[in-house]
Amino acid sequence: MAAAVKARQKACAPYSKFKVGAALLTKGGEIVPGANVESVSYGLTCCAERVALFRALTSGKKQFSAIAVCARLDGGPMPCGACRQLLSEYAPDAVVWVCDSAKPGEISEYKVSELLPGAFRAFRRDSD
Ligand code: THU
Repeated sequence: MAAAVKARQKACAPYSKFKVGAALLTKGGEIVPGANVESVSYGLTCCAERVALFRALTSGKKQFSAIAVCARLDGGPMPCGACRQLLSEYAPDAVVWVCDSAKPGEISEYKVSELLPGAFRAFRRDSD
């Protein structure tokens, strides 16, 4: 969570002015931080969780034990649905730690599986 709080300072959030920090903990003990990046074309925005996850995955890290997420919000920011989907695919065993960045000692913990029960996991190619 300390890494997430630090990463939050690097958020690029000129539109919402809502800075979010995240940090993934690999099973090997490495920490990969990320922060949200917004676009003037709002839909292109990427959440802190996905920035950290994409950074980790494309650095060759594949096994995660936790992801910490923080923002200046009572209780902290709950990951959005898109991030829950990606976490369920690439970090299914991770616990999710959430907190208000102003209170980094007050952490709520969730399982990825409880944040997105019944995640979409597989499809079959149509033959037509
Ligand atoms: N955001 C995150 O980075 N993570 C969350 O868990 C919730 C939302 C960002 C996206 C956008 O830049 C800003 O917060 C406002 O929605």
